[in-house]
Parts: sequence; C-alpha cells; structure tokens
Amino acid sequence: MDLVLGASGHVSGTVARRLLEQGRAVTVVVHCPEQAAEWSARGASVAVLDVHDTPALTAAFCKARRAFLLNPPASPSLDVDHEERRTVHSILRAVQGASLEKIVVQSTCGAQDNPHCGDLGSLYAFEQGARETGVPLCIVRAAYFMSNWFGALSTAQQSGVFSSLLPKDFKAPMVAPQDVGELAARLLVAPVEETGVYNIEGPEPYTPEDVATALGAVLGRHVTVDEIPRPEWPEFYRRNGFCPEAARSYATMTGIFVDGRYDRPSTPLRGATDLQTCLRHQASISSR
Ligand SMILES: NC(=O)c1ccc[n+]([C@@H]2O[C@H](COP(=O)([O-])OP(=O)(O)OC[C@H]3O[C@@H](n4cnc5c(N)ncnc54)[C@H](OP(=O)(O)O)[C@@H]3O)[C@@H](O)[C@H]2O)c1
Repeated sequence: MDLVLGASGHVSGTVARRLLEQGRAVTVVVHCPEQAAEWSARGASVAVLDVHDTPALTAAFCKARRAFLLNPPASPSLDVDHEERRTVHSILRAVQGASLEKIVVQSTCGAQDNPHCGDLGSLYAFEQGARETGVPLCIVRAAYFMSNWFGALSTAQQSGVFSSLLPKDFKAPMVAPQDVGELAARLLVAPVEETGVYNIEGPEPYTPEDVATALGAVLGRHVTVDEIPRPEWPEFYRRNGFCPEAARSYATMTGIFVDGRYDRPSTPLRGATDLQTCLRHQASISSR
C-alpha cells in the first residue's frame, strides 16, 4: 500500500493519480471529508485526518509500505515558521511509529538551516528529520512552483494587471507542480535502493514579464506586471492576510530567492510543462 499525504493538493494529486493508474493500492490522506468520495471513486482508500493528529497519522502509516510526504503550507495568518515545524514534527513522529520501507519527501530548492525564511527553513528541518528516521529516503527539491501564479489568473482577467514581488526582469527557475508529482510518483515506486536528493526545474526559467505574456495568451487580453519594490514586501504580505511574523518570514524568503543566496543545482531534472501550458490547464479547470 502506498500512502499519499495531501491528495487534494497540486503535487500530491498527481502522485496519487499516477500510482492509481499503475494499479497500485493507494491510501490518500485528505483534510476535508468532502474530498473523500472523489478519491474513493478513483479506487483509493481514504483517510480523513489532520496532520496535527499524530496518532491518526501513525495509524495510517502503519497500514502502508511506502509514503509520499508533503508538509502542508501553514495559514499565513499564523506564525508559519512555528506552525510548519509543528506539522513537520507530527509527520516525522508518525513515520517513526510505523515501519515504512521507503519515503519520498517534498522539499524545495534553496532549503536551508534558517529559523525564519518560510518553507526554505521548515522544509530543511523536514529533510533533516526525515534522514534521521533511517527510512530509505528520496528528497524532491522543486523550483518555484508555476502554481504560485494561479491567483494572478483571476486578478489579471479582471484588471489586466497582477502584482509581483520578483523584479519584472528577474529570470527565475519555475516548475509545474504536476511535473514534480510525476517525479515523486516515479521515485516512490522505484527500488528501495534508489534514494537521494532530486532537484527539478521546468523547461526554462521565466521572468514576471514572461508570466504577463503567458497570462495574456491564456486570457486573451493585454496583461502587465505591477512590481512591488523590496521595502514594501512586508506590507504587501500584510495586506494579503499575513500576520507580522509570517510577513517577515516570507519577505526574508523572497529576498534569499531574488539575491540567489542558495545553492542552485547545476544539473536539475527538467519537467516538460512550460508556463503557458500550466496556466492554460489551470484556467480550464477554473472555468469548469
Ligand atoms: N510554492 C512553491 O513555490 C513551492 C516550491 C517548492 C516546494 N513547495 C512545497 O510544496 C508543498 C506544497 O505543495 P502543493 O502546492 O502541492 O500544496 P497544496 O496544493 O497547497 O496542497 C496542500 C495539501 O495539504 C492539505 N492540508 C492542508 N492542511 C492540512 C492539514 N492540517 N492536515 C492534512 N492535510 C492538510 C491540503 O488539503 P485541503 O486542500 O483540504 O486544505 C492539500 O491537499 C509545501 O510543502 C511547500 O512548502 C512549494
């Protein structure tokens, strides 16, 4: 039995679908009971639980041999650094309470030992803790998700403008979360001996200007970028529902990314999905 955490999400949804397509027995962990029927209809067993509930998570892991582990992004209305380490801790305790033969951990490019830099820090803690469990481990370090621009689809459709904290001409490695899920599914079914860190980016890097062009093509209208100057980043996050601690942490993470203060992989794997295809796919889902 394979277990997939967070199956309603972008990456995990792909992981679960690929495993089911291969005829594997899959348990999906979902957060909301309303999501259960959809996965049952696809042939999955469903565990409805909150990742904070370590005993329930442990019980689910005990029925599985392999697991795809995703640390859910915390609500930005809370101190994300604290909250995301709480869920990391719960997931890892559940792994320790089970006898899994292999785990695949969703992490990020730029993961680093820093208590206040968004998920760069919490996913570093996830990676380290996962290593300490001793369970054979693959780590997927993904570039900036193209799905970070999904919210821009509706704002750009309404106003022709979207906001970007990344400078307009900043070329950033990005990847479609579906491609990350494809990789994670492949690693989960691969032999137990196939372990290690796998970096993944998309076919090419993109600037926010490229995002505007892609959004324009998908939406059929002219789209421009409103670049948020660096001194205004914390206030921008605050206006968008972040508490002060989360705003500071995300602003720090954004600075690390823009300044390139992390080890950029020299030979990443490359997902096939380009930005426009990823945005077009999302727009078609949203219009259903
Ligand atoms: N954004 C990026 O650029 C980037 C880059 C690299 C790595 N990452 C990492 O990738 C992961 C996010 O992947 P994603 O975008 O695929 O995630 P996502 O679409 O936001 O999905 C998160 C999943 O977690 C579930 N979830 C949320 N809170 C939960 C809880 N308390 N208990 C159980 N399940 C819960 C959600 O269920 P509901 O929908 O029911 O809430 C959802 O299925 C994070 O660990 C993030 O740090 C992100």
